[in-house]
Amino acid sequence: MWEKLEALRAARAGRRISSLFETDPQRAQRFTVQTCGLLLDYCKTQLDDESRAALIDLAAEAGVAARARAMMGGACVNETEGRAALHTALRAPETAGAIRVAGEDVLPAVHATLRRMEDFARAVRGGSAGGPGGAYTDVLNIGIGGSDLGPAMAVQALKPYADGPRCHFVANIDGADLADTLAPLDPARTLVIVASKTFTTVETMTNARTARDWMARSVDRPAEQFAALSSAVDRTADFGIDDSRVFPFADWVGGRYSVWGPIGLSLMIAIGPERFREFLAGAHAMDRHFLEAEGADNMPLMMALVGIWHAQVCGYPTRAVLPYDQRLARLPAYLQQLEMESNGKGVAMDGTPLARPSCPVVWGAPGTNAQHAFMQLVHQGTQVVPCEFLVAARGHEPELVHHHRLLVANCLAQSEALMRGRTLDEARQMLAGRYEGQELERQARHRVFPGDRPSVTIAYPQLDPQMLGCILALYEHRVFAEGVILGLNSFDQWGVELGKELAKSVDSALSGSGIGASASTATLAAFLRGGGA
Ligand code: F6P
Repeated sequence: MWEKLEALRAARAGRRISSLFETDPQRAQRFTVQTCGLLLDYCKTQLDDESRAALIDLAAEAGVAARARAMMGGACVNETEGRAALHTALRAPETAGAIRVAGEDVLPAVHATLRRMEDFARAVRGGSAGGPGGAYTDVLNIGIGGSDLGPAMAVQALKPYADGPRCHFVANIDGADLADTLAPLDPARTLVIVASKTFTTVETMTNARTARDWMARSVDRPAEQFAALSSAVDRTADFGIDDSRVFPFADWVGGRYSVWGPIGLSLMIAIGPERFREFLAGAHAMDRHFLEAEGADNMPLMMALVGIWHAQVCGYPTRAVLPYDQRLARLPAYLQQLEMESNGKGVAMDGTPLARPSCPVVWGAPGTNAQHAFMQLVHQGTQVVPCEFLVAARGHEPELVHHHRLLVANCLAQSEALMRGRTLDEARQMLAGRYEGQELERQARHRVFPGDRPSVTIAYPQLDPQMLGCILALYEHRVFAEGVILGLNSFDQWGVELGKELAKSVDSALSGSGIGASASTATLAAFLRGGGA
């Protein structure tokens, strides 16, 4: 099927995306999918009926649908770690029917923990749980990677719904992160949540110990103001956190897929348990859609196939995510982990080298800011960057609807401009009154836009908890489907291990007790150990 896709691409070389609208007046309807209130528009790509059908066949050959059923049914799909990948169980209603891992239904434990989180969140929000200074005014989540990016992104995304204590997030081992965050906080009114699946991650544990020391300087029993979110409950006890404030989760919840369970506690405290349930319900609706919708009606599948077309068939090495929604400012960073930690692999499930490029580099920033920064390259640079726009019909600022209209106009104008471009003739005509002769020619060439640059747009009514849940689950399943098509394991992350191991030996070098690194690293270590002189 790959050969067929490559042949289709070659056969269409030189055909412009805009011409597809001329030959098919129904294209705008036929190359969109709607579900759960979301609309995915992929008309502004080179996909046509034949290439779409071939891509759908590719997904069928790879067994995406069967693999999705296996994943959501609790099978051991994370084969290199010998585990299920059951984040979908965290958002399944209790009445959904048993989901078994090693013969045991996981839903009762998931919902028991969810209810404990809700009781705790209500107590924190209502003030019955607090510090010596009274009700908590601030919550500090200490975690990194999936134990940070999901809740940090979601708390910002759902700010209009946040009526609980203020939430802060510290991830980096750089003491500046913790110091700057702690500076305005009152230790007597701050709840510290240590979020770590393993409870061994050096950044998180170092920050957690420093935060405990900070609190101990003004509070008698600092451990009472700590909660833990982890799969390693023996280690949370060793840290001194009482079991009543430990919210456990199973090893089948991957870090980058964990915002739906205990790792989402800070979000639940921010927006309240009812809104958090709406967030889960939005994701569950997308799970059902992904399982049930077929072929071109399946939104995550179509997102995946457009991604495969661009990265693996056309060979475009990057993909830009451009939320025209300021509160999704952290979505690109969240998706970087979700997509690149999942599908940035060099070998297939059986250990053989991947036959195609792995997932593209994902990057991006909110619009319209991006337009005044890097969109120049996307419009006129020599490389093609497929773009993903996200935009809501409504904002949350009724008094600022004119801002929102301009935001939407800019979003739609970007994808239109990327597709349409501007020819040399058009540029000449535009400048004809200002320049002439050779200067006209020179100036006109600078104003040519090649166009034909692909993009998809995800549109939704408003960024509320349910919609955020839908969007994140859409991306999760897109990543999953791409991973199945590429034949790799989307649920391990061995590639982060080597750097962690070497950091230990370089740390020894910095403290002067030895070196296990190259001459380059040893020289840098000596310079830095000497204070940079
Ligand atoms: O280093 C990568 C990673 O393992 C991520 O997959 C994970 O989200 C992050 O570290 C944090 O891990 P933990 O929750 O165990 O502290």
